[in-house]
Amino acid sequence: MRLNGQRRWAAAGVVVATSVATLGVALSAPPAGAAPGCRVDYTANNWGGGGFGGKVKITNLGDALSSWTLKFTFPGSQKVTQGWSATWSQSGADVTATSMSWNGNLGTGASTEIGFNGSYTGTNTDPASFSLNGVTCTGQQQPTTTTTTTTTTTTSGNPNPDPGNRVDNPYVGAKMYVNPDWSAKAAAEPGGSRVANQPTGVWIDRIAAITGTVDGRGVEGHLEEAVRQAAGSPLVIQFVIYNLPGRDCSALASNGELKPTEIDRYKSEYIDPIAAIFAKPAYRNLRIVTTVEIDSLPNLVTNVTPRNTAVPACDVMKANGNYITGVGYALAKLGAVPNVYNYLDIGHHGWIGWDDNFGPTAELLFQAANASGSTKANVHGFIANTANYGALKEPYFTIDDSVNGTSVRQSKWVDWNRYVDEQSYAQAFRQRAVQAGFDPGVGMLIDTSRNGWGGAARPTGPGPKTSVDAYVNGGRLDRRIHTGNWCNQAGAGLGERPKAAPAPGIDAYVWMKPPGESDGASKEIPNNEGKGADKMCDPAYTGNIRNGNNMSGALPDAPLSGKWFSAQFQELMRNAYPAL
Ligand code: BGC
Repeated sequence: MRLNGQRRWAAAGVVVATSVATLGVALSAPPAGAAPGCRVDYTANNWGGGGFGGKVKITNLGDALSSWTLKFTFPGSQKVTQGWSATWSQSGADVTATSMSWNGNLGTGASTEIGFNGSYTGTNTDPASFSLNGVTCTGQQQPTTTTTTTTTTTTSGNPNPDPGNRVDNPYVGAKMYVNPDWSAKAAAEPGGSRVANQPTGVWIDRIAAITGTVDGRGVEGHLEEAVRQAAGSPLVIQFVIYNLPGRDCSALASNGELKPTEIDRYKSEYIDPIAAIFAKPAYRNLRIVTTVEIDSLPNLVTNVTPRNTAVPACDVMKANGNYITGVGYALAKLGAVPNVYNYLDIGHHGWIGWDDNFGPTAELLFQAANASGSTKANVHGFIANTANYGALKEPYFTIDDSVNGTSVRQSKWVDWNRYVDEQSYAQAFRQRAVQAGFDPGVGMLIDTSRNGWGGAARPTGPGPKTSVDAYVNGGRLDRRIHTGNWCNQAGAGLGERPKAAPAPGIDAYVWMKPPGESDGASKEIPNNEGKGADKMCDPAYTGNIRNGNNMSGALPDAPLSGKWFSAQFQELMRNAYPAL
């Protein structure tokens, strides 16, 4: 559903001075038990306005390490404002970065990359010296490179990474569960019977939803019905795990019932009972897909201090650690059930597609996958575009196009993002996640419920090459005002119908957001679910920094998030692509 964050490395192409310092050198092949050695490749990308991004590649040239501490001193006024893949601290000009639980092991010759965003005034001179575990890094040898390369490639079809007897792609050769409660609402709409038999996600969006609410039956009720629909064949049933403490920290529309500190209730009153139901022998032959905690971890990357997109409630959740603790706990508990397939949420391309958001998200997800007793084996894959509107594929322009020497990345719409659509984003994220440490067999889901963008406004060819903006705006399928817009978007249509293994690395296109259910209301509507009114759902709202201060693009008069929104459902059907 949500928001965009600012991009920083993004500006690299224009303003940037790239500098690389390679220090070090090599002791000629240290014998076992010899003094440690290391090499550090430090790259600072200045993005103008006194900000920069730092990448630090650490290579261990000595004996294997199980944890490490890197130290260096800034020669000028530089400050680390936010770091990732290590615990960062700074005292005066002295910076310390210590390893995380998942990247402390560094064998002889092994490297790890950590990074930070920084600020400076005057000149941004690289640090002159680095030490690792107290030893000055003097290694050198290989030539230096300033580019980050992503080399890992795998396709789905790799050996099953999971314990138990999970299959590589649960969607292959399986039916999909049709939620009768959603189906009835769809079928009651004029023309709704054309889609009412589609499989959609079942959102467990509050504790009461476990046993059932006015919005639909409870978890056991769905599983019983799933067993009936399976009729002895493999069947995928899709649940959305969505009830973290302090939920939806960057918006108000889907705030939840649990307060930021209520992690114990999340565990004992929410995750534990769900896991206990999933584990019942009666459901052993179902393939239970869970999508875990939409928007939570991406919010901790983009919507926190010192980003100018920061939201106080996200700072709270970052500081108290309860998103990470909760996600780790959910993965561990649900992943312990052998027929559960956990997919972690990765936002969407118009949010996490910028360089400074992309890698840090992969690494934060890896951290969460290893929190609360979980391990990466509990993550079967990732889901992109949940409840969002990003086009699956933009057929009329690519990220590599340019107009009169100006890259598409410099258009207002793309704004230095690295991706223009969800499929290219999902495939690239998969590789980056593997690089962060996830299993090479992970697969991707893409929510195509509302990204069809058909109807009369759909372009039929590329835009004119008169300017990069004319080219992109004339050719893009995604008709939103801005990719940071997320609430009940006007002009959207139903997208690709759910489908198994549609493209390399993609386990399925899915309809995780049930079409016709609102993203949120713009006016306060009393409720006992914790949901608030969100300006992003008001068509008259002129925006905030997270949507580039653009109009919200929302349909008027929406009900609370999750409630039936007939006018939206009708428009989604009208603008369906492929058409109904
Ligand atoms: C709401 C949930 C709802 C889900 C699916 C979310 O935005 O917060 O309550 O179940 O959408 O419609």
